[in-house]
Amino acid sequence: EKAGFEHFMIKEIHEQPKAVRDTLNSVLKDDRIDLSEVGLTDEEIKKISQIYIVACGSAYHVGMAAQYVIEDLTRIPVRVELASEFRYRNPILDPEGLVVIVSQSGETADSLAALREAKQRGIRTLGIVNVVGSSIAREADNVFYTLAGPEISVATTKAYSTQLIASYALAVQFGKVREQITEEKYQELIAELKTLPDKIAKIIEDDKERIQWFAAKQANARDAFFIGRGIDYAISMEGSLKMKEVSYVHTEAYAAGELKHGTISLIEDGTLVIGILTQNHLYEKTVSNMVECKSRGAYLMGLTTYGHYNIEDTADFTVYIPKTDSHFATSLAVIPLQLLGYYVSVAKGLDVDKPRNLAKSVTVE
Ligand code: F6R
Repeated sequence: EKAGFEHFMIKEIHEQPKAVRDTLNSVLKDDRIDLSEVGLTDEEIKKISQIYIVACGSAYHVGMAAQYVIEDLTRIPVRVELASEFRYRNPILDPEGLVVIVSQSGETADSLAALREAKQRGIRTLGIVNVVGSSIAREADNVFYTLAGPEISVATTKAYSTQLIASYALAVQFGKVREQITEEKYQELIAELKTLPDKIAKIIEDDKERIQWFAAKQANARDAFFIGRGIDYAISMEGSLKMKEVSYVHTEAYAAGELKHGTISLIEDGTLVIGILTQNHLYEKTVSNMVECKSRGAYLMGLTTYGHYNIEDTADFTVYIPKTDSHFATSLAVIPLQLLGYYVSVAKGLDVDKPRNLAKSVTVE
C-alpha cells in the first residue's frame, strides 16, 4: 500500500500535487471560486467582522500563514489561536465574526472543544476538515472538506497542503465579494492557484536528491533554527515542526527580527540556521539576520525563489523554488522543508511514519 515508496511520509509528499489540485477543483466552477457547497453566501461573507482561526500543530501553522493572506486580500482582521489556549481563556468573540477550525482528523480534542465553546457563544463556525463525517465536520455550521485522501504518516504533509489551498480559496473569494480586489486581480490569483500543483510536483522532482544529500550531511545536527519574516515566519514554524517531530533534532522557528532579542546567544560554530526568503519586500531584512548568524559561525541554508541568486553570497547551501504570487509562497516553500525533515529522519534510521511519543489523532487534552 506504500506503492513502492519506503515510507508513507514520502508517498504522501508525492501525493501533494493531486491532493492540492482536487481540493482546489472542488471549489472551482468556470474558473471562479464557488463556495455554495461550503454553504457561505455573499451576503454572509460581506457581514463577517472578524475571523478567528483555531487549531493545533501543523493546522495551527496553516492558520498562521492564512492570517497574512486573508488580512491582506480581504482586510478582515484575523486572529490565530492554539485550540488548547482558546478554549480556556474566556475568549471575546464578536457575534458577527467567524470561527474557523482547521483539522485533518476532525477529532482533535482541543480543536473540537474550541468549536463547541464557539458554538455555545452563538458565533458561526466553519470547519476545514479532511475526514468526512468526523466530529468537527458534523458539528461545525459549515464545512470546507479538504480532499487529501487518507493520511497515514503521523507527520502531516498532504493534509497541511490542502488546508493551505482551502484557506487561499476563502481569502480570494472573500476579497472579491468584499470588493477588496478587482476582477482582474481575482482572475490572476485564481490562475496562479491553478499552477501550484505542477510547481509542487516540480519541486519534489528537482530537489529530492540534493536535499537527501544535504540531510545526510546534517544528520548529526543538535539544533536547527528556522528564521523568516511575515509569511516566511509561518513557513518556518511548519519547517521546524516537520524536522523535530520526525528527526528528533531540536529545532526552533523564530521571527527573523526577534533572534537578536535573546536566541542568537545559542548560535555557535556550525549551528544550522535555515533562512526562508520568499517575500520580496522582506528579503534584504532576513538576509541581514542571516549574516548576523553567519558572523557567529552558523552554517546557513537559504530557501528562496529563483532569481535571488545573490543569496549564495551568504548561504552555504541554497534551495530555489519557482516564483508564485507572494501570498501563496507557503505552498511551495514547505515542500523542501518536508523533504528535509524526512531525509534527516531516514539518515538517522528512525521510525519516520511513527515517531516516538506521537499519535496520528490527538484525542486527549
Ligand atoms: C504535525 C501534525 C500535528 C497535527 C495536529 C492537529 O505533523 O500532524 O501537529 O497537525 O495534531 O491534528 P488535526 O489536523 O487532525 O486536528
